Amino acid sequence: MTGLPKKTLLRVLNGESLKTPPVWLMRQAGRYLPEYKATRATAGGFLDLCYSPDHAVEVTLQPIRRFGFDAAILFADILLVPQALGADLWFETGEGPRLSQIESREDFARLKPASEIHDTLAPVYETVRRLSSELPAETTLIGFAGAPWTVATYMIAGRGTPDQGPARRMMYNDRALFSDLIDLITDATIAYLAKQVEAGAEVIKIFDSWAGALSGSAYEDFALKPAQRIAQALKAQFPGLPIIGFPRGVGGGYMQFAKSGDFDALALDSSVPAEWARDYLQPHVAVQGNLDPMLMVTGGPRLRVEVERLREILGDGRWIFNLGHGITPEADPRNVEELLNIIRG
Ligand code: CP3
Repeated sequence: MTGLPKKTLLRVLNGESLKTPPVWLMRQAGRYLPEYKATRATAGGFLDLCYSPDHAVEVTLQPIRRFGFDAAILFADILLVPQALGADLWFETGEGPRLSQIESREDFARLKPASEIHDTLAPVYETVRRLSSELPAETTLIGFAGAPWTVATYMIAGRGTPDQGPARRMMYNDRALFSDLIDLITDATIAYLAKQVEAGAEVIKIFDSWAGALSGSAYEDFALKPAQRIAQALKAQFPGLPIIGFPRGVGGGYMQFAKSGDFDALALDSSVPAEWARDYLQPHVAVQGNLDPMLMVTGGPRLRVEVERLREILGDGRWIFNLGHGITPEADPRNVEELLNIIRG
């Protein structure tokens, strides 16, 4: 009896290096799949998909059925937390998310306390519960949330922005208000993720998609520390729970996440050199990544070249195969098929 779990993703998160790495793709359930588009059309809008356990379970399972990935990621969105805190949220077709903005202390005061998010998010917990019984025995279920900084950028600007300018401006102009918002999102995120784990999520991933916009002490205060607070709170409640961090775009800042000891793996964006990750990150954590998502659009001979290159550099250490960011709607499912053939031989 070794005590080691059989699921490949859990094995790597527990410290093993595998000859064939576990593989899953960010945004693996999505618009590049015709079956996703069909379900989405039935559901109505994107949010209807997120809040309907029937539909959310279905779209989570679609890429597992088609490709047999080693992990399934809960179908939901990082912006459900602000909605549960009382922000209005809607998706403009072709333009991405829109939210009511937090621009003042008065706007902030209208948000709910973190303890009151669960009524809104109950359907998500139900989705996790159903997935944990419906997934194949070898497939790991990943729960997730946005990191406080990335969620705050959307809450403050009311939309995606090219440079996260509105959030950075508030951070410098009104640090007390900004810190209170980060703390509220952090508390809500801990409560949300704890419910996901109770419902059956086996691994948690924290998406800090815009961490690269932070610099100086702000990176430590508003990307690293809140992510650590979330990881520590969850591990205190669920000893041994594996946590994947994704401080996208932070370059050398990945070191601080790796050395903190609070994360079992780090997801690498495509700009992180694999050799650097091998030498500086892999000694501390498992690494996940980091193929250019464009190769899922183009396929072709470069796909094999780049996958084999990653394998050569990262394959002797703890490595989970993934893209450097989400797969895009233009991706060709046949290239995903080919990718799996290359990885699994
Ligand atoms: O990875 C998965 O398959 C799980 C589901 C998932 C979604 N969003 C579904 C989704 C996950 C993990 C997310 C995370 C998310 N959401 C992030 C962090 C990861 C990243 O990509 O950097 C962010 C920043 C968001 C916010 C968000 N949601 C944006 C900016 C958009 C619009 C952009 C777009 O692709 O249209 C969304 C919508 C969204 N979330 C879609 C999906 C499948 C597309 C919605 C549709 O069907 O039209």
